[in-house]
This record gives sequence, C-alpha cells and structure tokens, in this order.
Amino acid sequence: ESSQIRLPSVALVGLPGSGKSTIGRQLARRLKLSFLDSDHVIEERLGCSIRDYFEREGEASFRDVEEAVIDELTGMASGVLSTGGGSVLRPANRQRLHERGHVVYLRSSPEELFRRLRHDVSRPLLQVADPLGRLRDLYAQRDPLYRETAHFVIETGRPSVSTLVNMISMQL
Ligand code: S3P
Repeated sequence: ESSQIRLPSVALVGLPGSGKSTIGRQLARRLKLSFLDSDHVIEERLGCSIRDYFEREGEASFRDVEEAVIDELTGMASGVLSTGGGSVLRPANRQRLHERGHVVYLRSSPEELFRRLRHDVSRPLLQVADPLGRLRDLYAQRDPLYRETAHFVIETGRPSVSTLVNMISMQL
C-alpha cells in the first residue's frame, strides 16, 4: 500500500483516556507497522509504574525521562507510537513528534474522558478531589498544544475503534 511508503511513522497525542493505546494498537495492525506505547517503554526503563515514580520522584523528573524516551522512539524507523498525555508540554517533544512523523490528535471532551476514566486509578494526575475539573483544566491548557503538534485532528466521541482507525488511515 502506497501510504506505507509515503508515511513511515505515526504518533497519537491526546488527553488521558482519549484512546491513544487502543486505537494505536489497531492502527498499527492495519498498517502492518510495529506499535509502541511511550508510557510502557518508560515503565520498563524505570522498573516501576509511572504512578509510583510520580509519587517518589515528582512530575519534573518523570518529564525528563519522558523527553529522553520520546526522542529515542521518534528517531526509530517506522511504527505507530502512542504517547503519554503530557508529552506535548515540552516544546522539544512537540517539535520532534511533529517533524519525525504524522501526528494525530485524538480529541475528546473533558466530560467524555471523565465518563471513561471515572474508575481508573492508574493515572496520577486524576487522583484528585475533582477529576472532572482537573480534566477541564488539562483540556484548556493542552488542547492548543495538541493542535500545534498534530497534522490533523480526529474527534473520538461517537465512532467505534475500527471506524476511527479507518478515518485515520484514510488521512495518512
Ligand atoms: C500523563 C498521562 C499519562 C502518563 C502520566 C502523565 C499526563 O499517560 O504519561 O501519568 O500528564 O497527562 P496517558 O495519557 O496514557 O494516561
């Protein structure tokens, strides 16, 4: 398929719960590319969960590790990369992601994300008294950064995973 020749790597960005890992895995299968999840690579490297690392070392230290891993993974040959929701916070990450592949922003509303993540305890940033308020703040802060990093935006609200995968492959 010609799309594979023209477009060797794809990265997915978006808030936690937007479907980056689920859609990324299916997209990779469809495009016959390898799939990598930057959070998984980080956890392998740290030897502990991101949640535990956040608690012990703090967010800034996590962001340093994340930047190194994003640099490494975006420098690799071809594949589909799902990124942590905060990877766009650093300008160096935004630039590397944008320049080294096709970046898709999976956009969901904070309300939709809240419905999906309500019972999820693995995300340290959402372990607060008002997770919906937190998601709204994160959305306000990051939506412009995801748009700046991405080459196009996919609305994740209604369509199934396979429909979203189709929509993305058609735009590559
Ligand atoms: C984060 C999102 C997480 C993970 C870390 C920080 C964030 O990834 O990288 O907990 O700042 O939004 P997901 O987007 O996969 O939840």
